Amino acid sequence: MASQLTRRDWLRASGLLTAGLSTGLRFAKAAPATYGQSVFVDEFAAVRGTNTATPPDTLPKLRARLLANENPLGIAPSAKEALVKAADIGNRYAWMEFAQLKQLIAADEGVSPKNIMMSPGSSDILMAAATHFAKGGGTILTSAMTYDDLLERAQKQGAKIVAVPMTKEYTYDLAAIKARITPDVKLVYIVNPNNPTGTVVPAADLEAFCREVAPKVPVFLDEAYIDFYEPADRPKLGKLVAEGQNVILARTFSKIHGFAGLRLGYAIAKPELLMAMKPYTNGEFAVSITTLMAGIASYQDKDWQNHCRAENAKARAFTTKALTDMGYDVIPSAANFILFPIRMKTKAFENQMFANGIGIQTRDFSGQPYCRVSVGTMDEMAMFMDGFKKVVG
Ligand SMILES: Cc1ncc(COP(=O)(O)O)c(C=O)c1O
Repeated sequence: MASQLTRRDWLRASGLLTAGLSTGLRFAKAAPATYGQSVFVDEFAAVRGTNTATPPDTLPKLRARLLANENPLGIAPSAKEALVKAADIGNRYAWMEFAQLKQLIAADEGVSPKNIMMSPGSSDILMAAATHFAKGGGTILTSAMTYDDLLERAQKQGAKIVAVPMTKEYTYDLAAIKARITPDVKLVYIVNPNNPTGTVVPAADLEAFCREVAPKVPVFLDEAYIDFYEPADRPKLGKLVAEGQNVILARTFSKIHGFAGLRLGYAIAKPELLMAMKPYTNGEFAVSITTLMAGIASYQDKDWQNHCRAENAKARAFTTKALTDMGYDVIPSAANFILFPIRMKTKAFENQMFANGIGIQTRDFSGQPYCRVSVGTMDEMAMFMDGFKKVVG
């Protein structure tokens, strides 16, 4: 299994899986996208180009794992407690717990529990949407420099990907995307805050865009990083779902809740859309009762979320300033990672950062190499800066 994942990562790295994307896509040139889906050793091996057959203990140890946008503070103590309690009912199917979590989410979003489908992380929702909307061909419309998992799957299903260039500020160009809508477009995919740029589109602009576009084409909003917004500033687009618009919101517990390993996510959409995607998911029972109960605790633990958001903002500001002071143009991030152009080739940079015990990712967009560093603890970011200074000289 491990070596299969690595081979796939290698195919991606060598461009074989993205080679067919429509021309001019900047994300098509991205370095291997190994976010979160394979175990650490696979990610490491894919990035380093080593074989997973290598015994893990012979690989250099990472002092700072800043490559998968995980929560460095871990899961909430309240979630840990719930996990332990859940072990006692691990013999039971989780009917009540699904209902409980859906009710909590529905109340916050102003939708009905019928508008919610749970999943083991949001990747399952992304893959299901890709399969459903791409079957029979057509076009998926998105932006350059965005998260490519849904797009790669859709392309494998036979869809064409059209990625509109970003604005000079590295944000989604909503006007340009709107101008590219044709009868062939099956889905518009928007990531907000965007990965890997960390940028956001203003909530009012996004809502106006959805109101105009969704009556013609379904809009998929990947909101994996939405919890890093201050609650008052967040786009609240559940109301569009409640109105019956063709809008799908995808959320994950992998980020601020720290559930990347526990696996929990959900989609919010009208029941017809959820039903259309459902046959391509593994079903809600792919989520374990332990994860669900921990999720219920974490969802209600606003203190932990506020703490994680504040710590992330502090460490992000520290790193942004340190890099800016060195003369780097850091793209302002609203998420738990930072992207900035570097002056070394991606592979050499990655290798040297890893050799210094710092795990990061790189991207190549239009021939410009970038570093994407996840925001860790303050200590980890200080280690990142030390390693970075050593590597860039
Ligand atoms: C933009 C975006 N969407 C979705 C995901 C999928 O995350 P998960 O499957 O862990 O919920 C990620 C993971 O990093 C992501 O960056």
